[in-house]
Amino acid sequence: MRVHGWREELYYVVSRVKIGTAVVVFPMSAPPFIRQAWCSTLQAALSVQGPRRVARARICLRTAHCGGGFMCGFVPSPKRWWWFVINTAPTNFFIMDALQPFVDQTRSFVKTSPWWISSLVALGSFGAARLAYQTLSVFLQTFILSGTSLRKFGAKKGAWAVVTGASDGIGKEFATQLAGRGFNVLLVARNAAVLSTVGQEIESKYPGTQTAIHTIDFAKADEAAYEAFARQVAALDVGVLVNNVGKSHAYPAYLVDTPLDEMRDIVQINVNATLRVTYSVLPGMIKQKRGLILNIGSFAGSVPSPMLATYSGTKAFLSTFTSALAEEVRQHKIVVEHVNTHFVVSKLSKIRHSSLLVPTPKSYVRSVLTKIGLACGAAYSGRPETSTPYWSHALLDWLINAVGMPWVFILYTHNLHKDIRRRALKKLAKTQ
Ligand SMILES: NC(=O)c1ccc[n+]([C@@H]2O[C@H](COP(=O)([O-])OP(=O)(O)OC[C@H]3O[C@@H](n4cnc5c(N)ncnc54)[C@H](OP(=O)(O)O)[C@@H]3O)[C@@H](O)[C@H]2O)c1
Repeated sequence: MRVHGWREELYYVVSRVKIGTAVVVFPMSAPPFIRQAWCSTLQAALSVQGPRRVARARICLRTAHCGGGFMCGFVPSPKRWWWFVINTAPTNFFIMDALQPFVDQTRSFVKTSPWWISSLVALGSFGAARLAYQTLSVFLQTFILSGTSLRKFGAKKGAWAVVTGASDGIGKEFATQLAGRGFNVLLVARNAAVLSTVGQEIESKYPGTQTAIHTIDFAKADEAAYEAFARQVAALDVGVLVNNVGKSHAYPAYLVDTPLDEMRDIVQINVNATLRVTYSVLPGMIKQKRGLILNIGSFAGSVPSPMLATYSGTKAFLSTFTSALAEEVRQHKIVVEHVNTHFVVSKLSKIRHSSLLVPTPKSYVRSVLTKIGLACGAAYSGRPETSTPYWSHALLDWLINAVGMPWVFILYTHNLHKDIRRRALKKLAKTQ
């Protein structure tokens, strides 16, 4: 075996929040009390953030003390995750050996090349390493890490979940799965009979769960309607609000060809209802010092969508609104999240069969509820508090952001919508 240099003499303990933050390195040959002191400091820092993580961290740290090879651990948390890689045994030096030719070649390249070429290569390597790191992080968040537990928001403690647009599609599934996870549910939509049936289904599926309904037409709701809604939620301990109700265009159309009432309804439902419902629910959450607000967004909000311009604009509103509100209410321990969604099987999408990119509401909602607090595919995209949790949507979102040429996707969407409109008009003509 070769004699190894300083690289082999190091423990790497890396604790990080975002790219470019604290990296702590200290020598393996450091006296045990220094290693102990560092591990205790890390443990203390983690203990501020919850017992489950401390337990995991402790296991990793203990292994680190004992030695025993190359070890990699990570400690998930909703807003950040900690990870560390520790090389504790010479048996793993083969990794260093494998890398050595690359290191030697790089060294000789730097020595023999003009400074500006070396600088360009260094910049390129930094970019590649950054992309690799971010991709790994997106994969970990999407496929491995679990999000914040719903218990933090009152699950199994008698708290209520308020779900708008709960009679069908994604909203109905949110209501059902939130009941399954220990919330009572307030179902909100226009049709009392349908809502009551959904309520009965939930109560028989999850005995002990209470359901209530509230009928409101968000397209036409006036002050009196919103006051009645506010009165009903004020009487409940609301732990979760899902701003799910949404309306899209009947079919793609240029703005000048869009019926005025369709445009108005989309704004009323997607923007005004979200504002007013949130406004009614927030005071109770602030009083309870806990809450989760999920705003159901769309890829049409992140990729400007010609021929669905009004829908696209209202969904973009949700993203910025969420980021701003999340910062306002963080101090009250309320989490606000914008959930970026590609197609899901539903009446709104007019897609009846699931596929790789089009999940059923059941799998889509499961992914949302298990990834609370993790950005998944929306990580590193400059959209604070946005999450793209469903795995294929996450990979697509990550790809769109990594490519970084929005006009490509806008052009693609425009052509797609021209085609959908042509087919929709043809179908309409046949039925008339
Ligand atoms: N499905 C997708 O592919 C997809 C993709 C991206 C984003 N999203 C978003 O996901 C959310 C849910 O969509 P979905 O596909 O589940 O829709 P959906 O199947 O059409 O369900 C819509 C729900 O909203 C209710 N609703 C509609 N208009 C209403 C109004 N004026 N007042 C009160 N309630 C109303 C409906 O009940 P009533 O008709 O009985 O009132 C129903 O419960 C929307 O925000 C949508 O933009 C969906």
